[in-house]
Amino acid sequence: MTTIADTWGLHEGHFWLRGRRPDQPVSFDAGTGMWNVYGYPEALRILGDPKTFSSDTGRVVPEVARPSERSLTQLDPPMHGKLRRLVSHAFTPKVVADLEPRIAELTGELLDAVADTGRMELVADLAYPLPIVVIAELLGVPSSDRHLFKQWVDRMLENSQQFSLVDRGEEQARNLAAALEQVKHLTDYLGEHAAERRRRPRADLLTKLVEAEIDGERLSQAEVVNFANVLLIAGHITTTMLLGNTVLCLDAQPEQFARARADRSTVPAVIEESLRFFSPFAAVGRVTNVDVEFGGQHVPADQLLMVWIAAANRDPRQFADPDVFDATRDPNPHLGLGRGIHFCLGAPLARLEGRVALDILLDRFPHLRTDPDEPPQFIPSPNMTGVRKLPLLTSAG
Ligand code: HEM
Repeated sequence: MTTIADTWGLHEGHFWLRGRRPDQPVSFDAGTGMWNVYGYPEALRILGDPKTFSSDTGRVVPEVARPSERSLTQLDPPMHGKLRRLVSHAFTPKVVADLEPRIAELTGELLDAVADTGRMELVADLAYPLPIVVIAELLGVPSSDRHLFKQWVDRMLENSQQFSLVDRGEEQARNLAAALEQVKHLTDYLGEHAAERRRRPRADLLTKLVEAEIDGERLSQAEVVNFANVLLIAGHITTTMLLGNTVLCLDAQPEQFARARADRSTVPAVIEESLRFFSPFAAVGRVTNVDVEFGGQHVPADQLLMVWIAAANRDPRQFADPDVFDATRDPNPHLGLGRGIHFCLGAPLARLEGRVALDILLDRFPHLRTDPDEPPQFIPSPNMTGVRKLPLLTSAG
């Protein structure tokens, strides 16, 4: 079977995208010193048991690769719950739902710019600017600074190639230090804005975060900045990939493309299947707190686990015909947005942006298709699955 991964040359390491299965659901990789978890039940067990499987991966990686402050994603209970409650107080479902008209307006404006050209590059023209402008406006930082965020995040990704606990060579140390330096640009930038909101509150999410209070407790400056940082990074590269991946999947499945066009109520299910089939966030990290038996393996304490949710989403023990993109799957309990206490806090925003943007894209372009002469390009990071360039032809013929 020729898969989309073969057709377009996706990351070689992502064997699950080529219809291949792992030899074992859990295995140790002596090359990197980490455990790989590929199976669905095994991933589910890990994500559902934060007592045994900690998110504080920073404690086992070399110091040079460690950010100085833990962000929400790296906290365990009870600190995680406290911080999540505080940030959820500001970043509520209503805050997200109220964004729908603005998302539609922005999508319209971005598509106006390419309306009569006969072609577009989906990422540069829509999938990148849309979520970054939305999240920047929501936070209250100037969306005109988005070229800065892009520069920092692109350099961060370039420098976070395959990580290994075994190879602590100079090149890896240099790359990790360079990646952290880019994160620092972003945290300094957000720190200045957060400090400004303490002095002069405005009607934006940064101000809400600065002022959020539960039982007399507030977020520290470092916690506000860290959370804003996660929102800015997680809030755009993943949604960018989601939009691009979804169009790529539909392009490869003309009947499903036609069905989505004809019946827009099916678009949300298309988005869910895209999250399963090409999970943008391919892996999440965890560390064992104690010795544990699972997936036929004995894993000692303090081991770093790469939980490949993208591979678990192709586990035939959970999904019938896992290598088939089928938007009619129901139920579709994919792990693309995580599971358990760390379940993606931005899921309502990602789903909203995906639905609104895809809907308008289909309205505007009845003849959308990939360009055989200009193949898509993919993000080079091994932990992500997503297009970074997707040239499309938009005219008939
Ligand atoms: C398609 C888009 C997205 C995907 C695939 C995605 C994926 C994920 C995954 C897999 C996790 C779990 C991490 C873990 O268990 O360690 C997560 C957590 C998180 N995501 Fe997303 N995400 C997306 C969009 C967003 C957006 C738009 C935002 C915010 C604006 C966001 C904010 C967060 C935050 C704050 C967490 C941490 C939650 C916690 O640790 O309690 N994500 N995301």
